[in-house]
Formats: sequence, C-alpha cells, structure tokens
Amino acid sequence: MFPTHRPRRLRNTPAVRRLVSETTIRPRQLVLPMFIKEGATEPAPIESMPGVLQHSRDSLRKAAVDAVRAGVGGLMIFGVPARRDAVGSGATDPNGVLNVALRDLRSELGDDTVLMADTCLDEFTDHGHCGVLTPDGRVDNDATLRVYADMAIAQAESGAHWLGPSGMMDGQIGAIRTALDGAGLTDTGILAYSAKYASAFYGPFRDAVESALQGDRKTYQQDPANLTEALREVELDLDEGADAVMVKPALAYLDVLRAVAEMSPVPVAAYQVSGEYAMVEAAAARGWLDRDRTILETLTAIRRAGADIVLTYWAVEAAAWLANA
Ligand code: PBG
Repeated sequence: MFPTHRPRRLRNTPAVRRLVSETTIRPRQLVLPMFIKEGATEPAPIESMPGVLQHSRDSLRKAAVDAVRAGVGGLMIFGVPARRDAVGSGATDPNGVLNVALRDLRSELGDDTVLMADTCLDEFTDHGHCGVLTPDGRVDNDATLRVYADMAIAQAESGAHWLGPSGMMDGQIGAIRTALDGAGLTDTGILAYSAKYASAFYGPFRDAVESALQGDRKTYQQDPANLTEALREVELDLDEGADAVMVKPALAYLDVLRAVAEMSPVPVAAYQVSGEYAMVEAAAARGWLDRDRTILETLTAIRRAGADIVLTYWAVEAAAWLANA
C-alpha cells in the first residue's frame, strides 16, 4: 500500500523546497512606476493606491535614488500636468512635467538604471483620451501618431532610455521608431505595450493621474475576451521595431502572457496594474489576506507565466525582500 511516487519528498524541508524551486524573481527584473505632479511642493498620497505617491520634483528624485539603491531594474515615469488641452501640449513641450522629471532623473542617475517614460497622451489631454480627436469626437489614429512622434523625441532628448507607448494606436511603434531614428536617437529603446486590454483594473491609476476621461477606451484597447488578437498585436510591434513587448494587466491575463512569452524573440514585460495593487492592499488592510505572501505569490505567478520584466508598484518593497532570496 506504499505509493510508488512521493512528490512530497520534494517539499518536506525548506532546504529541499529552495533547491527545487523553479521560479526566481530578482530585484533587477522589477520596474517601479512613479508619478510626478506638476507644481507639487510635497508628495501627496493617492487614496485608492495606499503607499503610492504623486511626487514633487524633489521627492521623485529622492525616491528614484532609493529605488535604484534597492536594486530595482528600472523606473517608469508618468506625468500629472497642471493644465490640459485638446492636443495634450504638455506632452511635447520640453518644459512639460514629464520631460522636466526625465531630465532631473537622468542627471541624477545617469545610466545607473533604465529610465522609462509613458509615451501616451491621456494624462495630458482635457478629454482624457490617449490620442487627439476628430471633429466628431473619435480618436484619430494617424493624427495621434504625429503627436506621439514629437512626444517621443522630447522624451528621448530629456533622457529617457526607453519609451513606453501605451496608447494602443495602430502603427505607433513604427511611427516612434522612425521619428527617433530621424532625430539621431537610435539608442533609445521602445517597450511596446503590445497587448493592453480595456481593463477595469486601471481604475486607481486614473485617480493617480487625475484622469479627465469620460467613457472608455474600447476603440483602441483590446477586448478582454481576445487572445489571438494579442499575438497579432505583438507580431506587428515586433515588425515595427519593438525592443521589448508588454502584456497588461498581468494577473487576469497570465494565459496571454504565457502565449506571448512562447512566441516573442524579445524580452517580455507584464504590468501589474493599479487595480491589482489596490485589490491586495484593500483586502490586506482588513486583515483578509496576508499582504506580503499575497504580493510575492502574485509576482511569482507573473514570472512563472513568462514575464522577464515585471512593472509593479511594490517593486521597492519586493526588491528588499528578494535581495537575499
Ligand atoms: C495610459 C496608461 C494607463 C495605465 C498605464 N498607462 C491607463 C489607461 O490606459 O487607462 C494604467 C496603469 C495602472 O493601472 O497601473 N497612459
């Protein structure tokens, strides 16, 4: 009556479990998303993202240095402008909040980290869409590409190592690559948000950037029901010159992540988004989840599904836990 096979033998002490563990997470694989608010003199909390801040220039610089010291692999910067308009002028203005922050951070950190910028108009437009609109209020794909091209040049010239086009416009990677190359910015990389879904999990982020959006992004972001479409989006971005590709959100899209990881010749990133963060924090605050274990389990799942890089608001804290793991 003895079982022939005893998988439990590989679980019966911490040392054995450590020896046979299949998935590792290194601090260098984590990227910290950060928010900079124009005109802020003090960092401000974001109610729906407890522990995450809208930074002032000064606090952003300090927090970025701390994050790099903690060993995180990169920083993804989002700007919250004081003024917005129909075409998102703050995005292309070299003195716009995000471009100023990129210059601050590049001069502070040099090449010690991979400095990334969100290349998208939604934070900068008064209607909150990721692109400019036609007279009848639809998002104008090709007019938006022209703005993205200018935004990309401004961000690269401000010191971003990588750009993160997150607007899901058709042809955005090619338009940005052509613009960068034409300006001699051939070293600037593109982390393509290739498979970005129209997700309810972005809710807290829209608080973080004080989004003006009414309605939804379903004409440009992907339908959560679709997987093969994500692979097609990845192929197009690779054709257009993406240096790395991303799936977003992460936890509800692990099957997409796995499929992308299997076909992508370039590094694959996953974005553990604001709603994933808020969900765990809210439950943990009520004592309903063991916060730290839950965080590590989610990060492990995202890595196991195939992400080489994970964008997470817990990057610094997790890096500290993992430093000697
Ligand atoms: C768009 C952008 C969004 C996020 C990252 N880039 C919001 C959106 O598409 O509505 C969401 C990130 C998060 O939820 O953490 N610039």
